[in-house]
Amino acid sequence: MAQAIGVDIGGTGIKAGIVNLAHGTLDSDRVRVNTPVGARPADVLDTVREVLETLGVADSTLPLGVAFPAIVKRGKTLSAANIAKDWVDFEAEKFFEDGLGRHITFVNDADAAGVAESRHGAARDAIGLTIMTTLGTGIGSAFLHDGVLVPNTELGHLHRDGESIERWTAYSAMERENLSWEAWSARLQEFYSHVEFLFSPDLFVVGGGVSKHPEKFLPLLDLKTPIVAAVHRNASGIIGAASLAAD
Ligand code: BGC
Repeated sequence: MAQAIGVDIGGTGIKAGIVNLAHGTLDSDRVRVNTPVGARPADVLDTVREVLETLGVADSTLPLGVAFPAIVKRGKTLSAANIAKDWVDFEAEKFFEDGLGRHITFVNDADAAGVAESRHGAARDAIGLTIMTTLGTGIGSAFLHDGVLVPNTELGHLHRDGESIERWTAYSAMERENLSWEAWSARLQEFYSHVEFLFSPDLFVVGGGVSKHPEKFLPLLDLKTPIVAAVHRNASGIIGAASLAAD
């Protein structure tokens, strides 16, 4: 049965699993280790190595995909919104390939999540434009047109009052400012209405940890576009990264 390994590097945790590519499910436990303080490249590499060892795949020849919270163009990380600035203009894919002694596929985390939802989740068989957004520490986005990914869309960095809208609208803003669901949803409304006007999507998919509680905020949004919760919550980055690595 076709399998690949997915690793999802986040601001707080580094997670990994062995993915069943036909079903988009995990054939292993989901292993999680805290992201090292500061998230500098060398420390993150050590932690990824540790996670792969725990998963028992340190010497595996299965395809390996790594999802990361930054713009990733041809293996190079180009931004660092919620991570160490060392990652800006950094040959991340090569750094991990050299460090792990194997081939890897390095991709943006929201793009990975979008691919997981498109191939195996809430946007399966969706036609036209699906916009996946992940609401967490920041806001990640993925555009899929008839299932084809257009990478690095970065909607969390649309500007509002001179700063990235994710500062104001991500799930972390709700926690930081102790907002009610209603107050936070009003911010989401502004964000999604603007994105809807700009891109006329056919479907919005909402991921990130908060998609565990879709009933608290999705009904409060008034949009022309259907908006649904992601199916794969904390495994979407793992599943999508593994799928992309196997392409
Ligand atoms: C980053 C994106 C990332 C998103 C979610 C944003 O701050 O710029 O690249 O996808 O956070 O992690």
